[in-house]
Amino acid sequence: MDNNTLLKKLDSLSIEEKIGQLIQLTGDFFEGDIDTVVTGPLKKLGLNVGYNIYNTGSILNITNPEKIIQLQTDYLEKSIHKIPLLFMADIIYGYRTIFPIPIAQACSWNYEGIEHAGSIAAQECYDEGVHVTFSPMVDIVRDPRWGRVMESPGEDTLLAKKYAESMVQGIQGRNLEGIIPANKIAACVKHFAAYGAPVAGREYNAVDMSEHTLREYYLPGYQAAIEAGAKLVMTAFNTLNGVPATGNEWLNRDVLRREMNFNGVLISDYAAIEELIMHGYAEDEASAARISLLAGVDVDMKTAIYANQLEKVVSDNEHMLELLNEAVYRVLKLKNDLGLFEDPFRGLQETVQRSRNSILSDEHKKAALSLAEESVVLLKNENQLLPLSKHTKVALIGPYADENSTLGMWAIKGDEADTVNLKMGLLKHVDPDNLSVCKGAHMLPANAREALGKYADKLAAETVDEEALLHEAIRNANEADVIVLALGESIYQSGEGGSRTNPTLPKPQMKLLHELSLLGKKMVLIVYSGRPLILTEVAGKVDAIVQAWYPGTMGGEALANILYGEINPSGKLAMTFPRSVGQIPISYNELNTGRPNLKENGSYRFASRYIDEVNEPLYPFGYGKSYTSFEYSLLTISQKEMKKNESVDICISVTNTGIYDGKETIQLYIRDKFASVARPVKELKDFKKVFLQSGETQNVEFSIHEEMLKFYDREMQYKSEPGEFDIYIGSSSQEILLSFSFVFLPEDEHE
Ligand code: GLC
Repeated sequence: MDNNTLLKKLDSLSIEEKIGQLIQLTGDFFEGDIDTVVTGPLKKLGLNVGYNIYNTGSILNITNPEKIIQLQTDYLEKSIHKIPLLFMADIIYGYRTIFPIPIAQACSWNYEGIEHAGSIAAQECYDEGVHVTFSPMVDIVRDPRWGRVMESPGEDTLLAKKYAESMVQGIQGRNLEGIIPANKIAACVKHFAAYGAPVAGREYNAVDMSEHTLREYYLPGYQAAIEAGAKLVMTAFNTLNGVPATGNEWLNRDVLRREMNFNGVLISDYAAIEELIMHGYAEDEASAARISLLAGVDVDMKTAIYANQLEKVVSDNEHMLELLNEAVYRVLKLKNDLGLFEDPFRGLQETVQRSRNSILSDEHKKAALSLAEESVVLLKNENQLLPLSKHTKVALIGPYADENSTLGMWAIKGDEADTVNLKMGLLKHVDPDNLSVCKGAHMLPANAREALGKYADKLAAETVDEEALLHEAIRNANEADVIVLALGESIYQSGEGGSRTNPTLPKPQMKLLHELSLLGKKMVLIVYSGRPLILTEVAGKVDAIVQAWYPGTMGGEALANILYGEINPSGKLAMTFPRSVGQIPISYNELNTGRPNLKENGSYRFASRYIDEVNEPLYPFGYGKSYTSFEYSLLTISQKEMKKNESVDICISVTNTGIYDGKETIQLYIRDKFASVARPVKELKDFKKVFLQSGETQNVEFSIHEEMLKFYDREMQYKSEPGEFDIYIGSSSQEILLSFSFVFLPEDEHE
């Protein structure tokens, strides 16, 4: 539909019909006869009895194709203006083919792979009738107590930007003209803004940070998604410096719409408009509606506020009516960009049959396997215990040994029955006679289970008593050469509402590990988690540690391929693993302080340090081991002084000095030695992931240009400043293998 026709469509709507387009309801509002709906969900939500559900603009989390066809058909028959419904859903890291959770994907540093994962999720969504996915989530996070680490790209701004861009391009395609082509759907970047920095890591808690920190670290990820063409943005639940994001006019109109030039649909998070009242920011529902419309929120997800209040808010108020029209126009434009006016089903009838083929196709599973293999991080490998020989007798022990629930909490369409779990993966490599499998311990202690509320019912029942489990584990371990421990937090201890004050392995599993460590056997620990756990206590008790995260549908096969050396692990941490909770928040790009804790100062008291813990993390950002080793050497630097429009071009050589082929992610960090604001001790500015055969040497080039040197100054101007810069090139943020300095010259007055 061309724009004029769209505007005419807008003008043809009554106020009530316009408001309807801004309402998002769940599918139950459209099930059963009208009386059932009125006395049921409509009443429960508090919608005025006169609310006409056939004005509604969009539906949340209905994903069954037959249901979508039936709902859309019924809706169009009964609606006056025949404006098709939008179907939106939380397809965060895969539809039926579930990829590793986003924090794991970020550890792959493979953004082509991440884009491909996004495109596969979009394909499966398209084939089943979903129009919009609430992904990518790009909330930067430096606090593993927070449950939603699992769906974030981690602590680093550059990785968040690349994740945001890759996911939007995968989901929507790379066309920026606006039309969403077949096989693609619309992306919604979230949560705007800075939801990943709640005080004390506690879910939904306040976020308080300087505007400088917000702009320097937290906003660029959302900006990257918008520049990649994201069609929607979702507001965050949290307050930002005292003002709830959903009602935050500065954040949503000044920053998002004007500065970031976002012209798409801003949708509230679930019931977030109504929560303005609970925040103590809106006095009542009418106030919540007015504040949200003024703050630029277009769609009210799952509350009655807009439906019940907006008519009053806009009556006799030209400005508010104009804001309403703008909001409705953006929703209609989104529907138009998806081609819904031409085909409300986006070819669904034809694809329903096809979807049975694309869903979990071999190609999709292969992509999930490959990304899972690259997302796993080898944290320890004492004396090259790994990879294992197929002839090694292995005792696979732990609650995750034979567990399919490894998809993470946001795999709403994932079917655990599709999972290749660890036991199944290992049996693809070894003879059953060489593998014993037992649970060894309960997943959780009773109190932690109870704390999960209704989610505890989703956990496997613990039918065997712990002593019996332990005895079986010890017996199996004594008969084996190597113990492979498959431990981790439950997927329901992670994700939304999953904040933990002490993110460690659950107590029953710690007991199991301790008891087995007394046997003197070689032990490999595989960790399933949605966040960096505190592994300090266990790291010394095992010979190898493999961070599996929640690796998705093909996770067990990916892990087995790594354990037996078919794949050489290449993951690098996208988030710091603290030694203790007391270090949190912790990240690699901290400031130097006026009294840095220098090694040469020993335990000098008056430095930025703790008296009961070191400053360094257990495993730093960018860290990850390989079965092989790599050597870097500096070949050339184009110049040691750089003018504004020049670049410092660096060439290094990287050699695989080990016996295994492997991939290495060479990381380039920059330190601005002196500036008008204190600058971090290092910041990731580029990286290259290369494959090297054993013994192979490759040249790897980096180019440093002015854009990499920019930061927000005290006046919030994004600019570079002349001065001396250190360059660090390494295999992690702490393993710096090459370093040198250069000077960025002031602009020549004559230039
Ligand atoms: C949830 C989440 C958000 C999700 C939305 C719809 O509370 O915060 O990420 O997209 O509600 O399910």
